[in-house]
Amino acid sequence: MRLLAFASLATLLVSALGQTSVDTYVASESPVAKAGLLANIGSSGAKSSGAKPGVVIASPSTTNPDYLYTWVRDSSLVFKTIVDQYTSGTDTSTRALIDAFVAAEGTLQQVTNPSGSVSTGGLGEPKFNIDETAFTGSWGRPQRDGPALRSTAIINYANWLIANGNSSWVTSKLWPIIKLDLDYVANNWNQSTFDLWEEVDSSSFFTTAVQHRALREGAALANKIGQTSVVSGYTSQASNLLCFLQSYWNPSGAYITANTGGGRSGKDSNTVLASIHTFDPAAGCDANTFQPCSDKALSNLKVYVDSFRSIYGVNSGIASNAAVAVGRYPEDVYYNGNPWYLSTFAVAEQLYDALVVWKAQGSLTVTSTSLPFFKQFSSSVAAGTYASSTATFTTLTTAIKTFADGFVAINAKYTPAAGGLSEQFDKNTGAPTSAVDLTWSYASALTAFAARTGFAAPGWGAQGLTVPATCSGNAGPSVAVTFNVQATTVLGENIYLTGSVNALENWSPDNALLLSAANYPTWSITVTLPANTVVQYKYIRKNNGAVTWESDPNDQITTPSGGTFTVNDTWR
Ligand SMILES: *[C@@H]1O[C@H](CO)[C@@H](O)[C@H](O)[C@H]1NC(C)=O
Ligand SMILES: *[C@@H]1O[C@H](CO)[C@@H](O)[C@H](O)[C@H]1NC(C)=O
Ligand SMILES: *[C@@H]1O[C@H](CO)[C@@H](O)[C@H](O)[C@H]1NC(C)=O
Repeated sequence: MRLLAFASLATLLVSALGQTSVDTYVASESPVAKAGLLANIGSSGAKSSGAKPGVVIASPSTTNPDYLYTWVRDSSLVFKTIVDQYTSGTDTSTRALIDAFVAAEGTLQQVTNPSGSVSTGGLGEPKFNIDETAFTGSWGRPQRDGPALRSTAIINYANWLIANGNSSWVTSKLWPIIKLDLDYVANNWNQSTFDLWEEVDSSSFFTTAVQHRALREGAALANKIGQTSVVSGYTSQASNLLCFLQSYWNPSGAYITANTGGGRSGKDSNTVLASIHTFDPAAGCDANTFQPCSDKALSNLKVYVDSFRSIYGVNSGIASNAAVAVGRYPEDVYYNGNPWYLSTFAVAEQLYDALVVWKAQGSLTVTSTSLPFFKQFSSSVAAGTYASSTATFTTLTTAIKTFADGFVAINAKYTPAAGGLSEQFDKNTGAPTSAVDLTWSYASALTAFAARTGFAAPGWGAQGLTVPATCSGNAGPSVAVTFNVQATTVLGENIYLTGSVNALENWSPDNALLLSAANYPTWSITVTLPANTVVQYKYIRKNNGAVTWESDPNDQITTPSGGTFTVNDTWR
């Protein structure tokens, strides 16, 4: 008895110490991660000299590897973190930085690059030079997650602006950028893409999941600001994406296959990152959207984590149900294939997100799919629903919190004393390797730490969705049509476009599309129109509520069967 009591006391002490050391690490690493992230944003960031305002460098490393570029994916995930901190009141000092990011991304959208121009596929370009010029070297392109992640970051800011009485900024400045990205997603999601690691050209779970999210929240935003013509198109493509998303589940392996190509096991951090970046606390443990606490996402997490137990020296001797260092995917050979800080933080974050939902709903459900995951923490647990008043709920959630903290503790163990986070740490020695000060590593620390405190960003409409019975690809062929019109205007006056089809707002002067005056006196906009279709349209001028239409007759084009088309008009 005495021995047993002593043993339990020792266990308690050890777990209390573990908890304390994670608390200590979170307290010391948080400011380092925040400062490290801000240092990598131009133009005033301490480590981002040469970057234009609002441009996020991936890392200041210029050799082995050279990461001194700006990736749309990394930048958008970084700014999603900054926007969440801003809108939740955690850090309200970043408004100008967020505005600079939006402006920088609006500029990058228009930069013609090896993937194309803004209207011919250029939005799928993964990376640019930090002075906002195109990167023209060979690369894995396109990467179709970028426009989705970028619109998600900007939409979250837009929703806050609307809630705070600034819809006009959203409509005039943010919506044109968001719409370009969402149109690209709606039109191109059903084409192959390089994955987020820039290696496999196929379909990719992370990309599909974030595209689905972007179209859902984009449709909701469009409704809010009266841009209703895009809603049905975005919503129907979102349903197609949700349907396609289900196909990545591998029922016999009980995990999510990360890519449809690539010839690997498919066990990949891609899937955990997708779950945390499409977390919607209102959706509960919905498995169709692979929510962090869903049975599929938990089963997947176990299979993914276990794939690293025997292949990294730093994991040797660790109990089979305790946290370990994890990397991108077990077959990885980049820099010899090592653990990544952001992958290890992502596992912790998924588990913290799950705990947030279980606490909020006051229960936890174990299904036959998630049973192996839960058995790690209680070998006798059976499928069923456990209310928060039960001992089983307490046992499981306490053990899962400890498990989650274990992943943070692994990163803590391999974080150098000054707190800098590289991309990877060596699988045998634990020494930091590859790019130093990886901006995404810092963002991943901040979002995991926030989730640990119970923070959940606003949802995006994942609640109550139904998966269509049969899957389809995206809609019929479309054409990106650029309308250029020469029009001199007076101060305060703007040129708009409306016409005979949904995409041109069906002759509505109120909802007419605002053209860009970036090349004044040429006003321009690129709109996705149905192919092989006769379209009539007119330009209008608006000045302080006064609307002036072009003189008759209507302009008319017949869209071609595909590709792009440019119209050159002069105001009549
Ligand atoms: C709306 O937000 C923009 C971007 O931060 C800002 O420049 C503008 O002053 C705001 N307008 C109002 C009325 O608050
Ligand atoms: C396009 O969509 C169909 C139907 O969901 C799917 O079977 C196919 O794999 C998709 N192709 C790509 C490249 O996403
Ligand atoms: C409009 O001008 C561009 C070049 O400025 C040209 O490529 C395009 O063919 C023109 N469109 C038409 C319909 O003539």
